[in-house]
Amino acid sequence: MSTENPVERPGAQEWVPEHGGVDDLRHAAEACRGCELWKDATQVVFSTGSAGVDLMLVGEQPGDREDRTGEPFVGPAGRMLDDALDAAEIDRGAVYLTNAVKHFRFELRGKRRIHEKPATGQLVACRPWLEAEIAAVRPQVIVAMGATAARSVLGRPVKIGEVRGAEITAEEWPDIRSLVTVHPSSLLRLREDADREAAFRAFVADLRAAAELVDRR
Ligand code: URA
Ligand code: SF4
Repeated sequence: MSTENPVERPGAQEWVPEHGGVDDLRHAAEACRGCELWKDATQVVFSTGSAGVDLMLVGEQPGDREDRTGEPFVGPAGRMLDDALDAAEIDRGAVYLTNAVKHFRFELRGKRRIHEKPATGQLVACRPWLEAEIAAVRPQVIVAMGATAARSVLGRPVKIGEVRGAEITAEEWPDIRSLVTVHPSSLLRLREDADREAAFRAFVADLRAAAELVDRR
């Protein structure tokens, strides 16, 4: 991946342990200074789930609630994701849930912390964690939710509308099937109920398609 936005720091690689499982990664990430995002964040938000599960879901970065609690997808986007997983009959406890970037990037407006998309350089800096997670978990299928996650999982920028729902093999992980879908927070931004319902159904269909890729092996 190119770094169009250089970061002040060298990337996460030097903090990633060479051996060990997901718990070792989780623990090591607390000390990560691979980019500047740790400075203003409360804590690292790593992942939930364990090695050996079939399905890995990748989001963008923790939000405000996640930053405060240390858990991924516990805020409004997480509730949307929970509803969609329920509708797709996928047990959240049976998936590995993580983000492309592990610290919350935000802009302060008054007292409010407003989500800000991670810069490409921050995405690149944080990618060694995702690579290590994939190596440790060895999922059969990875679902990238949104453009940021897709870029990190596939190693190249893609347009969601062009690739969503289809099975993709990322060059780096030839034995893992990947699938790109929207980010659940994109549904929260839709104002009209009908639009939101249609988008929700399409999101659920993508999650089902991912679960079917697991079953097909
Ligand atoms: N959005 C994400 O991409 N990840 C989270 O953990 C929460 C919101
Ligand atoms: Fe390290 Fe990623 Fe946090 Fe940057 S965002 S400090 S690379 S864990």
